[in-house]
Parts: sequence; C-alpha cells; structure tokens
Amino acid sequence: MEVYTGRGRCRNLTAKQGDRPQKAVWDWEAPLAIATISTASESRPATGEPDVRFRGVSKRFGPVVAVDNVAFEIPRGAFHSFLGPSGCGKTTTLRLIAGFEQPTDGVIEIGGASVVGVPAYQRPVNMVFQHYALFPHLDVFANIAYGLRQRRPQPARAAIERSVGEALELVRLPGMGKRRIWELSGGQQQRVALARALINHPTVLLLDEPLAALDRKLRRDMQIELQNLQREVGITFILVTHDQEEALSMSDTIGIMRDGRIVQMGSPTELYDAPVNRYVADFVGESNFFAGRILQHDLAGASLKTDKDVTLAAPLSRKGEPLTGKDRAVIAVRPEMIELWDLGDQTEFSIETTELGTVLVRAPKASRAGSGAFAPGSEVGLGWRRQGALALVDA
Ligand SMILES: Nc1ncnc2c1ncn2[C@@H]1O[C@H](COP(=O)(O)OP(=O)(O)OP(=O)(O)O)[C@@H](O)[C@H]1O
Ligand SMILES: [Mg+2]
Repeated sequence: MEVYTGRGRCRNLTAKQGDRPQKAVWDWEAPLAIATISTASESRPATGEPDVRFRGVSKRFGPVVAVDNVAFEIPRGAFHSFLGPSGCGKTTTLRLIAGFEQPTDGVIEIGGASVVGVPAYQRPVNMVFQHYALFPHLDVFANIAYGLRQRRPQPARAAIERSVGEALELVRLPGMGKRRIWELSGGQQQRVALARALINHPTVLLLDEPLAALDRKLRRDMQIELQNLQREVGITFILVTHDQEEALSMSDTIGIMRDGRIVQMGSPTELYDAPVNRYVADFVGESNFFAGRILQHDLAGASLKTDKDVTLAAPLSRKGEPLTGKDRAVIAVRPEMIELWDLGDQTEFSIETTELGTVLVRAPKASRAGSGAFAPGSEVGLGWRRQGALALVDA
C-alpha cells in the first residue's frame, strides 16, 4: 500500500505563525558585541579529544538512579543540549561535569583526561545555574569580577577592570558595572550571569535552563544571543532544557534523556527525521501516532493493523530500534506530511476520522487548505504517502 487515504471532519482551524525568530530585537540601543575576551580554547592545543566524554557513568542518590550508565562524547566547540522531562537527570549530568557531584560508577573526561576526584574549582568548566543566583548585595561589576577575585594570586586591579569591561561588552551591557542587580531586567540579569561564568575563560560552559525564568519574547532574543556568543567565544556550550523548540533552534547536537538514560543523541535534523523510537519522535516536533499489531516487517519497512482494522505501512526509521521480537509498533506521521484535499503557511487542522481518531494536519498557506477553503465541520479527504511515515518501536 503506497498511500493512506480516508475521510474526516474538520474540528477546528487555527492559523499557526512561523515559530522561528527572524532576528534579535533588543529593548535598548547597544553596539554589536565585540569578541574581546581571549578564550581558553584559542590557547588550547588541538588534541583531537572531545571536550567532554562520559564512559558508563551512573549517579545514584540512595535508591534513586539519577544518571543510569550513560556514555557520550561532546566535541570541542559544539553547542550541545540535553533535552528531557523534569526529573530525567539533566541537572545531575551537568553537576557531574562541573564536579559538584562525583559519579557512583564510570569515568568522566574533560579534554581527554579523567576528572574523577578533581574538585569543581579545579575544572576548566563554569556553570550558569537553573536560577541564576547572582549576589544581590553586590553590583554588576562585583558580581562579574567575583571569579577573578577568588584567584590566588589575585590579578591586579587594572587587569580585573579590563576583563570585566570586556565581559560587559561581550554580553552587550557596556558601562553597566555600577548598576545594582535589582535595577536590571530579567534578560540583563541573565547576561550578567553569563558574563560572570565566562570571565574565567572556561573550556566548557554549562547552562542549566538559563532562560526558563524569562518571558517568551525575551527568551527568543536570548536564544539568538546565546548562539552568537557561543560562535564568538568558540567554547563548548552544554545547555539543559525541557523546551524542545529551544533545543532544536540552538543546538548542533541534542541528547534526548529519559529516566537517567540518553535515548538518542544526534543533530536536530537527525532526531526529527530518524528517531530511534516513539518517545523521541514525540519529544522532537509533533507527530501523529497510529498504533497496531505488526503484520509484516523487513528492511524496506513495516505494515501493521490498527485496532479498527486499518492497514498502514511505512518505511523504517534510519536509526530505529529493531522491530524484531515485537508484536506491536506505531506508524508516526508528521503533521506537515499529510495532505488534505478540497480543503490549506502553516494552518493547522484537527481532523476527526472514524478509522484513525483525531489526526493533526499542517498545510502550507499557498495550498488550497491553507487559504481558508475548509471551514470547521466540513467533510474532507485526507491521506499521506508511504514515504511520509515511519514505523517505530512503540516505546
Ligand atoms: N541531591 C539529591 N538527592 C536525592 N535525589 C536527587 C538529588 N538530586 C537529584 N535527585 C533526583 O535525581 C533525579 C534527577 O534529578 P535532576 O535534578 O537531575 O532532574 P532534571 O532533569 O534536572 O529535572 P528538572 O527539569 O525538573 O530540573 C530526580 O529524581 C531527583 O529527585
Ligand atoms: Mg534540572
């Protein structure tokens, strides 16, 4: 069977705006950031080693397994995100890299060398916390200078002033050193936290949900700003988020986490186009899932029969877990892969069908469906091509 076709009734109709920010808009005039901070990565010799490597790392808190036998590598200079639901072990993973926690099992390497037993303050790593934790009793300058003033021997005053000035330029807060923390907006406080973390030239910057407290608009602006900053300073950024849109729009690579494990690691495109199972397909973007009993599967694809006796077929995901030994599977269809007829930039439809339940469809504005030809309540035909679907392990 090459195509599924059927009929359904439009339940609702919502115009969906394109959801990628086109450009950063700031609420004050500031010159473009100038990359004046010389970074640790510039002076580091190229070793060919990844910046961060986990080998069989677990972290248990009593009976709770927060990180469960995890292995991964993050190359130097990458923008990597860990994405997953609350409690899946994201913060614990960052704290292990930072050295605030020690693994129960396994080895963590930074720049090719094991850091097991190395205390946090001796690691070439800095962390921006889930709640940015600025010192409220210190002004902006003193907050940013904190890391430098902790060094022994302490750098000369003029050197500290120069470094803080450069850091303020980098995060586009020039001349704001005298401000008190409470006189700053949420986004400005966020940038002070970034400047404070960057001042010691870490090899790896760890960011734990750094944008969670910001409103949607400011969060989008800061996402672009963070990406620009990462390109300018060229150090490895490891970001933790449970916001899939944030991870997808910012990262070179993403690790999808579940119950202390990494389910899949790859580029945003790879995770979207070739999920290992239903969990990843559901976490990255949106999909319709049709579950059923496996009728047949081979290298070319799989077919299954739903509980309402509809036979559906789809190719396998390139990275899919094998279906062998499973009775049931799901067919996943992205909303933009489904065509509507007699019915149309991103208009979303929710179509009630008798055979497959509710199906989510996204149609381009240029199409007839997107132009508003289909009113709620109208009967429509819908279908998709076999190549527009994936057969997945229902895990
Ligand atoms: N110090 C601790 N003692 C006991 N259990 C802990 C400790 N820290 C974390 N945990 C547990 O480990 C698991 C993972 O926690 P973690 O903070 O890494 O989750 P997370 O993915 O960052 O979640 P969130 O998105 O809510 O911040 C949770 O079950 C949590 O309760
Ligand atoms: Mg957390």
